[in-house]
Order: sequence, then structure tokens, then C-alpha cells
Amino acid sequence: MADAKYKIQEEELIRGDISGYLNRHETKDLLRILTCGSVDDGKSTLIGRLLYDSHMIYEDQLEKITKDSKVYGTTTEDFDPALLTDGLKAEREQGITIDVAYRYFSTDKRKFIIADCPGHEQYTRNMATGASTCNLATILIDARYGVITQTKRHCFICSLLGIKHVVVAVNKMDLVEWSEEIYDKIVKDYNAFVARLGFSDIHFIPMSALKGDNVVEHSENLAWYDGPTFLHHLENVNISSDRNLIDMRLPVQYVLRPNLNFRGFCGTMASGVIRVGDTVASLPSRRQSKIKAIYGPDGELDQAFAPQAITVTLEDEIDVSRGNMLVPVNNLPHIGNEFEAMVVWMHEGAARAGKSYLIKHTSSMVPGVLSSIRYKVDVNSMKRDKNAEDAAESIRSLELNEIGRCHITLHRPIAFDAYEKNRTTGAFIIVDRLTNVTVGAGMIVDRVVSRPGHAKSPVSQNIVKSDSLVSAEDRKKLLGQSGATVWLTGLSGSGKSTIAQQLEKELIAQGHLCYVLDGDNVRHGLNRDLGFSMVDRKENIRRIAEVAALMNDAGVIVITAFISPYLSDRAEAREVIGDESFVEVFVDTPIEVCEQRDPKGLYKKARAGEIQQFTGISDPYEAPQDAELTLQTENLAPEAAAESIVADLRSRGIIG
Ligand code: ADX
Repeated sequence: MADAKYKIQEEELIRGDISGYLNRHETKDLLRILTCGSVDDGKSTLIGRLLYDSHMIYEDQLEKITKDSKVYGTTTEDFDPALLTDGLKAEREQGITIDVAYRYFSTDKRKFIIADCPGHEQYTRNMATGASTCNLATILIDARYGVITQTKRHCFICSLLGIKHVVVAVNKMDLVEWSEEIYDKIVKDYNAFVARLGFSDIHFIPMSALKGDNVVEHSENLAWYDGPTFLHHLENVNISSDRNLIDMRLPVQYVLRPNLNFRGFCGTMASGVIRVGDTVASLPSRRQSKIKAIYGPDGELDQAFAPQAITVTLEDEIDVSRGNMLVPVNNLPHIGNEFEAMVVWMHEGAARAGKSYLIKHTSSMVPGVLSSIRYKVDVNSMKRDKNAEDAAESIRSLELNEIGRCHITLHRPIAFDAYEKNRTTGAFIIVDRLTNVTVGAGMIVDRVVSRPGHAKSPVSQNIVKSDSLVSAEDRKKLLGQSGATVWLTGLSGSGKSTIAQQLEKELIAQGHLCYVLDGDNVRHGLNRDLGFSMVDRKENIRRIAEVAALMNDAGVIVITAFISPYLSDRAEAREVIGDESFVEVFVDTPIEVCEQRDPKGLYKKARAGEIQQFTGISDPYEAPQDAELTLQTENLAPEAAAESIVADLRSRGIIG
């Protein structure tokens, strides 16, 4: 019989020092466990055994079960732990919609929540629901059958839903004579297929849940196994490093305005750490301010981290509303209205490509379109449906329990991360616009969007890229050069335009086709609708990058002269244009020098407060960290600057 240490400790504490007990209980960390397996694998038995042996069952419950075991039990023993978790089975028999059943228990070391999900394919959606918040998955394998299709499906869904820790419970070892050989083979088979799923920690435990071997107590029958028992592992597995403490994300749930002097922004920290004094940007507007104060349930805090629910106040009166997100200025998520995601469909009515839905992402609800379904995943083999991918245009729907990679276009931009990085800001649910029912769940994939040139799926169903009959090589031969973009970045007045013009003149003189795109000029035409907010500057750069990419395609060397103050915007430009054609040139002129030059008198105006958000004065400039070329213009004539760029282009083989 199991020893009763957990129960005795609890009882003593409760009797002797109730506040100490409560305090300890409160500060214990919580492990959320998902159990995957069908009834036959012994899932209910394992959970029942865990609860029973760790004394988490009330006396009267136990009495009833012991009695029932004699009547209904499937075992010859006097106690069938599976009956403890019988509720779910009853539901199944009645054919009622099965949700995820949650069970709570705690030991001396930790609190646990077990999400008990039905295992069959028709319950993929339930499993996805259960898995989305879990830290650890228990995959049950019947030692007699080893790794089966269902094992693979469960593992795939766990990996898709971002679970990092897996315990493979090789159960029913009693039915294979406690054979180490059989266990070793299962471990080998499992490791062979799971390698590409990206779990950071996989642990195997041979056991007999029915008899209690290696669940809470070590088993003498399995003396050859020298690892921890199941419970010991659950109590000790290290999950603290799973927390994302780096990327601070605070989705604003509501704005608190009790009086005119207080404007607090409330939300639950999705990840990272927030401190008083931190400079933050509100997304998607990108307006910046500093954290003035942080309030938790018990008063003011110096700092807070996920998953604390907090209210913050800011130093400045910037416009922040529900659905916005506060983030650090030097660590922004993606901001955009398009992304690709793995979607699990959860409704009887199939998903339809081209249909409009509501997308609920953190604290915002945005209308959007499921623009295309690139491929479906066969959840049993974990393979892409290759035929369907080739005929991508023909995948028009995703049925209940199917998983597919989808392209989603929203009506307005949101701030998001890849699910792999952040299980909160990378996840969303899909809601039907008419019925308001949740119909799907999605995990955002790291690649933001397919770009023209490398486009994998058209944004609209009616746009098909036509292939040119002329190759890049043909153009190269004709022009004696490869299309490329010289991207000049630097403060206003740093000399970008002057260098660009000089470079253009020089290249033309040498017989090369080139063209300058300049901030002040483009802002009179193509981008005349844009100002200087972070969002507008981002859009400014995005359009320029797209234009430059087209001109590069035509074989032209493009020289751009834009402040382009944000690292992330320039990185996106590089992605659009292509790394091999993107030559970033940092026109590195100290702000004092630019201000002294002040060719357009703008610094003076900015100092006088007549121009808002002026780069270098009231708006940031993020200098490149790995530009292809840096030019210190203080003591460098524009001609010399142009020459060094020409030399650089030659060394890269862009010009002959
Ligand atoms: S960017 O930040 O979006 O890349 P861009 O290079 O197009 O800026 O335009 C910068 C030019 O606009 C400057 O050289 C200056 O003449 C003018 N300008 C007007 N207002 C501002 C401002 N608030 N910040 C920077 N430049 C401004």
C-alpha cells in the first residue's frame, strides 16, 4: 500500500498552522498536465491511481469505489482506479458532446491540473482545447502494442499546441512480464518518429497503472528501471525556464478611468517582465511613453511578469484603448494584418476559404478573411497532404477536426508573435460572425506572410502570378548588371540624398541603369497620404521596398534615401527585396552635425516644438547593427562616399 506521507503532512499543517498551510499552498507552483490516450491504454486508471496513491480522494468516495469495484470493476483486485475517473466514460456511452475534464490535486511540492481529453480522432478539437494551456503531456502507450497511429496523432497535436515536456508512460508492463527488452524497443520506436516535433524534454517511465507500479511508488517488478516514478517526475520537472521572460507583452483589456487624474490600463501579462520607468510603445499606433506605476491586487509594484493581472499608468497622455498592446520599444512583435497559421477546425460546419470570420486575438476582436488554405495535415501520419498542396487553389474547406495551414487577412492590423515564441500573442480563435460560436483555433506560424517573388499563396483567390518569358539572366546580359537596392539610412540632414544623387550620377556615367527614390520626393506622390507616426513610417518603408523590389526585378539598381529609423522596418525591407540584392548603407552623421547643417531648417522648427515626432529630437532613430557599409560623412565628401559604394557594388558582383 502506498505510504501516506502527503496526507499526513497536509493534515498536520492544517491543524497546526492554517495560515502557514494556506500560504504555502498559494505559493506552490502549478503544473498543467494533459493526458493523451484512449480508455484502453489505461488513462483513467493512471489518473485514478495517481489520485488514490497520493491520497487525494475523500473517504466516502473511496468507500463507494471499493464497493463498485467489486460489482463493475474490470480487475480482479479489490479496487479499480479507473472507476474514479468514470464520469467521462459515462458521458461517452451516452454520446454526449465530450469536453475536456479537468481534475485538480496537489502534493507537498506542487499543485496540478490534469486535463483529461478523449483520445479518438473525432476528439482532436477537444485535445487541442485541453493542450493549449498545458505545460506537460502524458502520452500513454500500451506496452503490448507499442507506438501506434494514435500515439503519433497525440504527439503531433501536443507539439502543434506548443507543449515542451512529454512523459511517455509505457503502461501495462505487467502484461508483458515486466520486460525491459519490450520497453527498450518502445523507447527506440518512439524516439525515431518524434525527433522532428521539437519537444525539449521527453521522459519515459515503464509502469503498471493498475497495480500501482512506478506511479507513486517505485516498483520492485521494474527494478531494472532506475528513473523517477511518475509522480516524482511530475513534482520535479523544471518548467520555470519555459516562461518567456524576455518579450514583454501586455494586451490591454480595458481602460480604467475613475477620475480625470487617473488613467490606468488593465490587462494580464502575456509574457516578459514590465518595470516602472520602462519605455513602452502602444501598438498598433506605436506611440511611446514610460511606465509611471504598476498596480497589482495588493497595491503598487516595481515590476510584474506573466501571468500577473495588473494595471499600469503612463507618464504621457497617449491614446491607448482596449485591444491595444503595450510592448518594449526595442522588442516589437510583428504588426500587420496578414499572417499564416495552423488552424484546428472545431465546428461541424466546415471552414471555407474566402469566408469572413471574427478573429479574437488577445483582447481584441477583428473581422478577417480566411484567405486561403495552403495545405492540410494528415494528423495520423503527421504529413502534409502533398497533392492538395500542389493544387492549393482547390483546397476550399477544412472539416471538423481537420488541421490546415491557412493564410488570414484582417481588416485592420494587430500586434502578434509566432506561437512558438508566445502562446498568448501567437494564438487566436475564430468566431462565426452570425452565430458568435467559436469555430476554430489558430497558432501563428513564424513566417509573417508570403511575399511577392517568393509568394506561396495569393492574397486574393483571383490573383495568379504570371511568369515572365524573360529571365533575370537575360536582363543581366542586356544591362550588364544585376538589379539591387542600395538602402541609405540615417538622420535627416545626414547626407543621404546628396550621396544618393552623387551615386546615381557616377553609376550612370559608368553606363549603369539606376534610379533614386528619395523620401521628400516620394512623399509628394506615392506616399502623400502618410505622416511620421511609427505606423506611417512603417507603411512608407513597406511601399518603397515593394517598389524597389519591382524595379530590381526589371534589372534596375535602385538607390533609396529614407530616414527609415526602425530596425524592424528595414529588416522587412530586406526580406521583401531579398538579402542578396539588399545593400544597407548607414549614413552615420552625428545628430549635432545634422542639426548644425539643418539644410531645410527642420531641426530648428523641431526644437521650437513646431514639428512633432521629429527623428533624433522627439522620435527615435535605431542605428543599423550590421549594415553592409557605414559611411562617416563628417569628413567625407559626397563623391568619395559614392565611390566607396560603387566599389562595394563591384565587389558584390552587382556591377561588372
Ligand atoms: S521615414 O522616417 O519615413 O523614413 P522619410 O525619409 O520618408 O522618413 O522622410 C524624411 C524627410 O521628411 C526628412 O528629410 C524631412 O525633410 C521631412 N520631415 C518632415 N517631418 C519629419 C519628421 N517628423 N521626422 C523626420 N523627417 C521629417
